[in-house]
Amino acid sequence: MDEKRIVRSELRWVFVVAAAVTLMLVVIVATTLANALHPPSNVETIDPATLHIAGEFTEANLGTQENADGTVTVRLIATQYAFVPRCLPVPEGRPVSIRVTSPDVIHGFIVAGTNANTMVVPGFVAELTTEFDEPGDHLMPCHEYCGLGHSNMWAVLRVVPEEEWIPDANGRMTCELVP
Ligand code: CUA
Repeated sequence: MDEKRIVRSELRWVFVVAAAVTLMLVVIVATTLANALHPPSNVETIDPATLHIAGEFTEANLGTQENADGTVTVRLIATQYAFVPRCLPVPEGRPVSIRVTSPDVIHGFIVAGTNANTMVVPGFVAELTTEFDEPGDHLMPCHEYCGLGHSNMWAVLRVVPEEEWIPDANGRMTCELVP
């Protein structure tokens, strides 16, 4: 093979690789801007050994809370092998901030069929804000292998239509899983 052919072949492959990289960058930027699909970037530390004793993630504070401005904050714990609480009601079509942390090992938080997806790393509070437009129950399987009970670790996010959204006097809302 003469040298010119080799150089031409190499240049062709340079072009193919550059096109593939460009396509991937375009997809990343487009999904970030159009669908808010991007890694959550909240960096906030918490002591995993004491989070159940005091502060934001004590049992009484877990669950769904409507804020004064109509937005909603959901606080939960991902632990071996459950999400606490197990049923999370949120209103349809309103901004919802989800704050989740772990007292033990790394877990995964995802709401099926939505862009809500984050790792839950002990020592950090994972936070994401999004809106849920599809009423009904959405499965939340843990998606980071966390031990023998990993496959049994799941919860449900229940998107409630506005007319059925009736929080109590403290702005709290709960839901039950039908067995
Ligand atoms: Cu928790 Cu897998």
